[in-house]
Amino acid sequence: MARIVVVGSINMDLVTLSPRFPDPGETLTGDRFLTIPGGKGANQAVAAARLGASVALVGCIGDDAFAQALHDGLVAEGVDVTHVTRVAGIGSGTASITVAGGENSIVVVPAANGRVTPAHVEAARDIVRGADAVLVQLEIPLDAVEATLRVADDEGVPVILNPAPAQRLPTEWLSRVRFLTPNQHELATVLGAGDDNDFRDLMRRAPCAVVLTRGAEGAWFGEKDEAPEHQAGFKVEAVDSTGAGDTFNAALAVYLSEGLDNAVRKACAAAAIAVSRLGAQAGMPRADEVTAFLEAQG
Ligand code: RIB
Repeated sequence: MARIVVVGSINMDLVTLSPRFPDPGETLTGDRFLTIPGGKGANQAVAAARLGASVALVGCIGDDAFAQALHDGLVAEGVDVTHVTRVAGIGSGTASITVAGGENSIVVVPAANGRVTPAHVEAARDIVRGADAVLVQLEIPLDAVEATLRVADDEGVPVILNPAPAQRLPTEWLSRVRFLTPNQHELATVLGAGDDNDFRDLMRRAPCAVVLTRGAEGAWFGEKDEAPEHQAGFKVEAVDSTGAGDTFNAALAVYLSEGLDNAVRKACAAAAIAVSRLGAQAGMPRADEVTAFLEAQG
């Protein structure tokens, strides 16, 4: 069983299903409203646990009404929450999400996620030691991200850095990353390059191995200085893409021991299943569903 540590955000997703996206200043009548646990860190932790990994999450929740539900949801999924800290005097992170026509728009308020510190990561050093992989994203303060890279490096554990939401990062940080998992826009932003660059050129400029996601087109992946390979995407009817990237990252970490090609193939399959279902954590598949999906694909 893979042992995964995730350092990242924990949000309550406030999801409105709408017939279309409202224009600025416009009021629309939506179809449905749901509260679903989310946040890139929590999503990746839950997705990895559903795929059969032993998972611990490092992050912060607030002391509001959402905090208990977020905590209990993680526990129910079998995620070790020993290093999920409850911060007094602040709310939990939220994401206001509009879903329309299979696409989404998201406004995130970090709240307690902004209180994750290098000390929280350092306190989790014992669980990082001996893990098969560490997953981290950019929805927590950058000093905590840097601490994650440092602690994992010290302990000889590979880090998968999902640079979302996109921010420019120091090149020196990337040299500590085993796999960077951006989409094209995120890779351009991380490298401080323009969005108009070809994604293969961007991959060549990265100082680490990259697994680049291209939505329905699948993923391109390669070690540093090697020509990237392509894994085609799987065709599904898109219902909600929220959390599909998180599912992809989790599957990549869980299946990494099977080799990069296989891990990317399974990650594309897991993400495709997630896209075909509503909600981030609500739509994440179990390992047997990924197996059955791939068998059905032939
Ligand atoms: O990656 C999807 C997640 O991004 C959502 O669950 C939302 O909470 C935002 O953080």
